[in-house]
Amino acid sequence: MTDLNALIDRLPKAELHLHLEGSLEPELMFEMARRNQVEIPFKTVDEVRAAYEFANLQEFLDIYYVGMNVLITEQDFFDLTWAYLERAHADTVRHVEVFFDPQGHTGRGVAFETVITGITRALAKAEAEWGLTSRLILCFLRHLSEEAAFETLEQAKPYLAQIEAVGLDSSELGHPPSKFERVFAAAAELGLKRVAHAGEEGPPEYVYEALDLLKIDRLDHGNRALEDEALVNRLAGEGMTFTVCPLSNLKLCGVPDLRQHPLKRMLELGLKVTVNSDDPSYFGGYVNENFKQTAVAVGLNEADIIALARNSFTGSFLPQAEIDRRLAEIDALVEAA
Ligand code: HPA
Ligand code: ZN
Repeated sequence: MTDLNALIDRLPKAELHLHLEGSLEPELMFEMARRNQVEIPFKTVDEVRAAYEFANLQEFLDIYYVGMNVLITEQDFFDLTWAYLERAHADTVRHVEVFFDPQGHTGRGVAFETVITGITRALAKAEAEWGLTSRLILCFLRHLSEEAAFETLEQAKPYLAQIEAVGLDSSELGHPPSKFERVFAAAAELGLKRVAHAGEEGPPEYVYEALDLLKIDRLDHGNRALEDEALVNRLAGEGMTFTVCPLSNLKLCGVPDLRQHPLKRMLELGLKVTVNSDDPSYFGGYVNENFKQTAVAVGLNEADIIALARNSFTGSFLPQAEIDRRLAEIDALVEAA
C-alpha cells in the first residue's frame, strides 16, 4: 500500500470538483473574522472542527453558508483561493476547475467584481509560479429562484472571458435541474459550458434532467445514477465524466462506510470517473487524501489509480494539446517507476 501512496503523491492530476468556499480552513476563517470584524458562532478552531459532523447535505450547507460570511474583501477571496492552490500544488495537482458561489456573497452585499477579481488574481499567480492551470465555474445556488440565477448570469457578463462554465449546487432535493433549464440555455448561448450536481442526494430522474434539459458537459457526483441500469449504460456510452467525491459522500452520509463507496464499481461499469475533494476543509481531506483513503477502502489497484488520474485530464475543459501533454507526463512517470 505504501507504493500506491507514493504513486498517488507523485501522479500529475486535475481536480474538477472543488468549491472554493469549501476550502476555507478554520484558521483562515478566524483570521478573516478578526480582520473584518465579522461575528462567527465559534470561539475556537477546535470548536469549529467539532461542529463538522453532518447527517446530510443540508446540515453541511447550513454551516458552509455561515463560514463564508467572513469573506468580504478582494484580498479575502485571493487568500482563500491561494490557500487552496498551495494545497493542490502540494498534491501534484496540475490543473483545477473550481466552483465559486457568487450568490453566497452578493446576497450579503459583496460585489460580484470583488469576488471574481480576488479569485482570478490567485489563479493567475498559480499559473505564473507553478504552471498550475485553471478554469472557473460559476455555480447557481439551486435553493434560490430562477430569477436570481438570471440576475447572477447578468452580473457575470463583463467577466465571461474568465468563466468557463456554469454549474448548479446547494440543496438538491426539491430543486430539480428543470428549474434552471432556461438559465442554462442562456448560459450556453453565451458560450459557457455546463456542469451540474445531480444524483448526490437526488434520484436518477435528476440526472436525466441534467443531461436532457441542462445539456451538461460533465456530471458532478452522479452516484445515484447507479440505481438505473439504462442510465448507467447511457452515461458509459456517452463517455460522460463523473466528478466523484468519496470523503464528501462519507461525511454527508451518502455511504455508511467508505468500504461501501461505489467508486470501484463505477470503474468496473465502464464509467469515466474522477476523484475530487468537494469541500476539503469540511470533509477531512484534499484530493490525495481522497485517493488514498478510497484506495484502501475499496481496493483500488495501480491501474485504477492511473486511470483515475488520466480521466481527470481527459474529462477537463483543457484543449486537447494540453491534455495530451499531461497524459504524456503520467506515462513518463509510470514508465520510470
Ligand atoms: N453539494 C451541493 N452543494 C454544495 C456542495 C455539495 O457537496 N458543496 C458546496 N455546495
Ligand atoms: Zn460539490
